[in-house]
Amino acid sequence: MKNITLWLRFILVAFICLTIAVSCQSNKQSQQPILTSLGPPETVTGAKPIEPIPNSSKFNLEKVALGNQLYQETQLSGDNTISCASCHALDKGGTDRRVYSVGINGEVGFINAPTILNSSLHFKQFWDGRAESLEEQIDGPINSKHEMGSSWSEIIQKLQKSPEYVAQFKTVYDDGLTSDNIKNAIATYERSLNTPDSKFDRFLEGDTNALTENENKGYQRLKDYGCVSCHQGILLGGNMFQKFGVFGDYFQDRGNITKADYGRFNVTEKQEDRFVFKVPSLRNIEFTSPYFHDGSAESLDKAVKVMIKYQLGREIPQDDIDSIIEFLTTLTGKIEEVSS
Ligand code: HEC
Ligand code: HEC
Repeated sequence: MKNITLWLRFILVAFICLTIAVSCQSNKQSQQPILTSLGPPETVTGAKPIEPIPNSSKFNLEKVALGNQLYQETQLSGDNTISCASCHALDKGGTDRRVYSVGINGEVGFINAPTILNSSLHFKQFWDGRAESLEEQIDGPINSKHEMGSSWSEIIQKLQKSPEYVAQFKTVYDDGLTSDNIKNAIATYERSLNTPDSKFDRFLEGDTNALTENENKGYQRLKDYGCVSCHQGILLGGNMFQKFGVFGDYFQDRGNITKADYGRFNVTEKQEDRFVFKVPSLRNIEFTSPYFHDGSAESLDKAVKVMIKYQLGREIPQDDIDSIIEFLTTLTGKIEEVSS
């Protein structure tokens, strides 16, 4: 009898110990996600880390110079009035600062011109990602009647009349003046237009004083509110597609829906791609208004508020919005020094 009581006591004590151990364990588990989400400051669960723009690229300088010249060459357009630089001017942050671009014969386009700065670091080109490379992208504006309204045969004919161009192409390319080489020269020039060395890059590289207290707060808010679930990686964008209007119907609210608003759907014709766009980069954003593919936001204040409403489905204090905007201005870099 005594033995049985002892056994019962033993079992009771063992049971209590086990219960405590299990509850400690489950406590630990429930804390796990919180611990990882705190993580190192530059990484967020499920997001690609934000990294500085590399600044050690080497280029063939003759190719870059030829590409630069072609980038500004109006003979690439049907009526010799428009060049790439007309819509992507370096002194305008690589854009034209218009809602919609103006092409030859005063043709007004239907989608906002993004910047060509850092364009080589985007995973695909255009708002709907329809071009895989910078070379492939160039066929778009050359042939579009809203933009340059020309064709490669017309362009080759014109440039062949210039002994300077013919000689330059011979020096740089074995097979001389061809459409592929024009595209390669321009794309090489574009690849030289990365903008490293922003305040934020210096911060990422370890200079803890690079950001002011308020800029730092803005960066924390960008992460805390989840902007970085879409604006992430080296460019804080440019590496995925996302729907515009995750929370609420942006297009219904704005009205006048056009084909350009269908975004990625125009490429894939899949219903789930309707209103889906490449997430734009936030680099050099202070110089590229108006914002969005429809050019509808004339200021960063407006753009950030639209994002908070339609991409995050919430309201946040103006104070935090101001800090985020302050942070966004630290993303302005320098045009890379090209070295051979
Ligand atoms: C008439 C204005 C105009 C001209 C000229 C023009 N572009 Fe564009 N560019 C645009 C517009 C508008 C878009 C966006 C189109 C879209 O996404 O459907 C764009 C998109 C781009 C993109 C994609 C950027 C990104 O983030 O997706 C690159 C790169 C580019 N253009 C380079 C060039 C080059 C190189 C030339 C000259 C051969 C050129 N553009 C001529 C207006 C123009
Ligand atoms: C769910 C994904 C997602 C989230 C979250 C998100 N964005 Fe965006 N952002 C986008 C997409 C997609 C666009 C392009 C919309 C368009 O024009 O079609 C965009 C556009 C922008 C633009 C305009 C860029 C330009 O060049 O026109 C800014 C600025 C911006 N976002 C800032 C933010 C900020 C700040 C936050 C957090 C408060 C945020 N975004 C949250 C997906 C997102």
